[in-house]
Amino acid sequence: MDNKHKLVIVVGSVREGRFGPVAASWVADQARRHGGFEVEVVDLAEVEIPLALPAESPKYAGESYPRPAGMAALTSALEGADAFVMVTPEYNHSYPASLKAAIDWHFTQWTAKPVAFVSYGGAAGGRHAVLHLENVLTELHAVTIRDGLAFPNYYTAWQDGLPLDPEASGYAKTLLDQLAWWAGALRSARETVPYPS
Ligand SMILES: Cc1cc2nc3c(=O)[nH]c(=O)nc-3n(C[C@H](O)[C@H](O)[C@H](O)COP(=O)(O)O)c2cc1C
Repeated sequence: MDNKHKLVIVVGSVREGRFGPVAASWVADQARRHGGFEVEVVDLAEVEIPLALPAESPKYAGESYPRPAGMAALTSALEGADAFVMVTPEYNHSYPASLKAAIDWHFTQWTAKPVAFVSYGGAAGGRHAVLHLENVLTELHAVTIRDGLAFPNYYTAWQDGLPLDPEASGYAKTLLDQLAWWAGALRSARETVPYPS
């Protein structure tokens, strides 16, 4: 169905032995079952993301921004997306540098699009990471979704790639319903009136 929203799920951590792909795979299953999305998972571990940015800001460079060849698939996925889910752990009360670098290499790709969060970590379930992401994505004119999924102490809360909490799928559905609503509303708005910059 071509009226499905293009959803890009970003795996934010790139560490050896990371949990991120497990959480992202479960979220992708939930999104496919939801039915409102065409789902693509983008794993930042497979992307060339240098820490050193070009001289000019991507905000002003537009199409001519000189990104590395190994970033092209990421840029294209972000460009074509109607909505995002960021799957993030918490590192020192924030989110991983890999995710920040991927965000900073882009600008218009985030504009007037909705972003939801699935986080995990110790006692706080990655909520410190999400608070920082909400702040950063506001600067990029993205719209962050109210409901998020947070998995505290995920190492005891998941088994065989699935959360043990029987309510988790229901929480995911609520998040995805909100994300789908915003994806449709914002796509229609972007198509109707150019976003003021
Ligand atoms: C550098 C580093 C810092 C961390 N800091 C926190 C933290 O502040 N709060 C927390 O809940 N967990 C923290 N953790 C634990 C991570 O949430 C946990 O290791 C998680 O598996 C990391 O996600 P990943 O496996 O996808 O890399 C930290 C882990 C690392 C590697």
